[in-house]
Amino acid sequence: MTVSDLASDAPWWTSATVYQIYPRSFADSDGDGMGDLGGIIARLDHLERLGVDVVWLSPIYRSPQDDNGYDISDYERIDPAFGAEEQLDALIAGLHERGIKLVMDLVVNHTSDEHEWFLESRSSRDNPKRDWYWWRDQPTDWVSFFSGSTWEFDQATGQYYLHLFSRKQPDLNWENPQVREAVYAMMRRWLDRGVDGFRMDVINLISKVVPLQDAHGDLFAQTFNGPRIHEFLHEMHREVFAGREAQLITVGEMPGSTIEQARLYTDPARAEVDMIFQFEHVDLDSGPLGKWDLRPLHLPRLKACLARWQEGLAEVGWNSLYWDNHDQPRAVSRFGDDDPEWRERSAKTLATVLHLHRGTPYVYQGEELGMTNVAFGSLDDIRDIESINYYAEAVRDGADPADVLRSIRAKGRDNARTPVQWDAGPQAGFTTGEPWIAVNPNFTEINAAAQVDDPDSVFAHYARLIALRHDDATVALGEFRLLLPDHETVWAFIRTRGDDQLLVLANLSREAVELTVADLADVGGPGSWLGAEVISATATDGGMPRAPRFESTRLDGWSAVVLRRVG
Ligand code: NOJ
Repeated sequence: MTVSDLASDAPWWTSATVYQIYPRSFADSDGDGMGDLGGIIARLDHLERLGVDVVWLSPIYRSPQDDNGYDISDYERIDPAFGAEEQLDALIAGLHERGIKLVMDLVVNHTSDEHEWFLESRSSRDNPKRDWYWWRDQPTDWVSFFSGSTWEFDQATGQYYLHLFSRKQPDLNWENPQVREAVYAMMRRWLDRGVDGFRMDVINLISKVVPLQDAHGDLFAQTFNGPRIHEFLHEMHREVFAGREAQLITVGEMPGSTIEQARLYTDPARAEVDMIFQFEHVDLDSGPLGKWDLRPLHLPRLKACLARWQEGLAEVGWNSLYWDNHDQPRAVSRFGDDDPEWRERSAKTLATVLHLHRGTPYVYQGEELGMTNVAFGSLDDIRDIESINYYAEAVRDGADPADVLRSIRAKGRDNARTPVQWDAGPQAGFTTGEPWIAVNPNFTEINAAAQVDDPDSVFAHYARLIALRHDDATVALGEFRLLLPDHETVWAFIRTRGDDQLLVLANLSREAVELTVADLADVGGPGSWLGAEVISATATDGGMPRAPRFESTRLDGWSAVVLRRVG
């Protein structure tokens, strides 16, 4: 039996890569400065050339756009700003023709306050939908993720409603079975329309501890991974996915989840979700005060974190793998080195490390080009409600505005939300109009047109890694073992499947590193790897590894190689 025979009963998404589109920043087809469905349809070739298997589309539903579409006022209609209904059907067809699946964002912890359900709910205390949301005479002490109280007083009926996010995002009451049925029916209609799964927004927040009570600083204990979460997810699976799950992919966004919880969420036998987004590795550069409290990142901690998740989900469940998304800073600026001299090399090195882990990799739009954070000049450049509210609150409480801006430059979500840089023309080819948020000024250097035909580009490197996962069962499924856990700059690990072994060696620093005999002792010493085939390298000529065989134990600054053991 060959390695690929062994792989044949693994779910299709074990060798797949997902590409996330944040539509308002992807491509604008009508010149209004905001990305839209027409823009995505016009760029399908980019996705096909990259070779991704799935597109996850951030919300395009009707929405007042208070949180850029994560505040939905109609789950079943496209927001006119993003285009027409037929365009979504054309997008589904266009993707499917290219063998690419479509995953929609499912935002059902909350709706918009302009959703019909909420309008009914707030209309009177005895409205049949009153109990679809959380109404209270007295607020609890909870603090919103977007600053301020989670409770908004509603004059008309004299009660407060709950919103964990903005006041325009009231939380649905999942204790009410009618809410759950309405959500499941909506999800089934989307599957019937041809979509292939869901990314579920903060889905581990839908079960709250009831009755709601003061958190005394620990909102987590009241709202995350609550008492009925597994019951709700299993019910959703039964009501929505059962019978068609083999074709679908589901990923739950689950901040604050532990490995033990992830095993429960993703154990196929429990029928909940296929994989989750965990947040441990993107919290490592935060201090005790939260995400704005900047801390330097320590590589051994990052390696240990990913390795723990690899081990924890080795026997049961499955990992998602990501460096960034629309809520996180750009990977190359955060984990890599965005100095122009090192940017490309570090982007390729980070890609190699992530894509050689076991799990389903997610590529966030522009990551495949090595797009970077933005040096926002002032608050006027910021569009994100989280950053804007944080600035107002922190400055009101006496923080130095320069410090606040420093945090926003490092961690603000707008870093990921500037337009995709398509070419070196006006507005980076994103729009013929005025973009809703300014283009990163480095677009003349970093853009798709400069990369897609260059076999040595960051884009080409991503395309090769994505193809490698398709073709190589050891990359997709092999066991993972971390090497050199304490090394300050080298990230090394082994992937094993049957007799097949891959060694991944990456240098995450500017300084070249010479690996010693002792460094590799655990894997048979350098002798058993010298002469090994280099199956991926960040240093390429015409797309081919500059050294086709492993001949030197020196790793250049920001470089990575993947070796296959011979014999
Ligand atoms: C997580 C989403 O990714 C983020 O963008 C959003 O603001 C919150 N959930 C609320 O929906």
